[in-house]
Amino acid sequence: MRIFSGIQPTGEKHLGNYIGAIRQYVASQEEAEPVICIVDLHSITVAYDPEDLRESTLSLAALLIASGLEPDRCTLFVQSHNPDHAQGAWLLSTVASFGELRRMVQFKDKSEQQEFISVGLFTYPVLQAADILLYQTDAVPVGEDQRQHVELTRDIAERFNSRYGETLVVPKVVTPKLGAKILDLQEPTKKMSTTGGTAQGTVQMLDEPDVIRKKIKSAVTDSGREVRRGEGKEGIENLISIMSVATGEEPEAIESRYEGAGYGDFKADVAEAVVELLAPIRARYRELRDEPAELHRLLAVGAEKARAASGPTLATMYERMGFARP
Ligand code: AMP
Ligand code: TRP
Repeated sequence: MRIFSGIQPTGEKHLGNYIGAIRQYVASQEEAEPVICIVDLHSITVAYDPEDLRESTLSLAALLIASGLEPDRCTLFVQSHNPDHAQGAWLLSTVASFGELRRMVQFKDKSEQQEFISVGLFTYPVLQAADILLYQTDAVPVGEDQRQHVELTRDIAERFNSRYGETLVVPKVVTPKLGAKILDLQEPTKKMSTTGGTAQGTVQMLDEPDVIRKKIKSAVTDSGREVRRGEGKEGIENLISIMSVATGEEPEAIESRYEGAGYGDFKADVAEAVVELLAPIRARYRELRDEPAELHRLLAVGAEKARAASGPTLATMYERMGFARP
């Protein structure tokens, strides 16, 4: 069973990234050796600062390890360290159609936020398909917002196989039962996001405990008084999901525990649960971040493992597509 996922090094990582994605990567180490890719080539598709990219690539590696990824039990690497991704993306760009890419919701959203809309932003999902398909991936753990990209990846794999013969594994998307879409605390109709959400409504994984408490205590809820999930109670439901993930308690158990309690007490407890969840990650992150040489070493080992895994697939793709190769 091959598990692969990617995460962008730009933008701070927030509680939604942790709950929807990172937590799944860590858990998947129990069943398989997941391949986790820091997708720096994807990050240059929108306006960015080169110095920040360099910094945030190392920071994200530290954050992922601090969150529980163990370099001995997974393949953790940086996308640009394995040139197969860029090559695979070019080959696959001839197997994806303009019309398919034009329907991608993430492209529509992100292009609205950009003054300069790069061709790379448009073909972003083709690079993502190459990431996934080069590793003969069976399962892709992601948050709900990435489902459409993984479905496109499946279509691309099937089309490649029917044109050139059975070559690529068609992957499945895996989203967590709880928390596949964590909502912004201030606007609980939108997903929590560094670019599209509100600053106050986004808990960053590296926020100080007091900042976390403040953000959660001021979360927007509803005019009712019941700690329950349901229609019109998106804010409370979101907090129940967050608490459930942080404490391991089922949502039903949380609802009955808070029967008759006010929103104030509930929010204070959610805040403490999140502080407890993130504080050890933050502490480990700080230690790791102080050792850039060690991070570089771990990423070099990861890149080597990644190249060994993707190389044979890329070679077969070239061959099936008719390239003259020695
Ligand atoms: P990104 O930081 O955009 O590379 O996203 C990394 C991962 O986090 C992807 O698998 C996303 O689906 C997931 N993700 C992003 N935002 C949320 C959210 N609000 N709730 C749950 N998962 C999310
Ligand atoms: N597009 C994904 C995101 O924004 C990141 C990503 C790139 C990815 N390549 C991937 C996710 C491959 C899963 C598999 O979150």
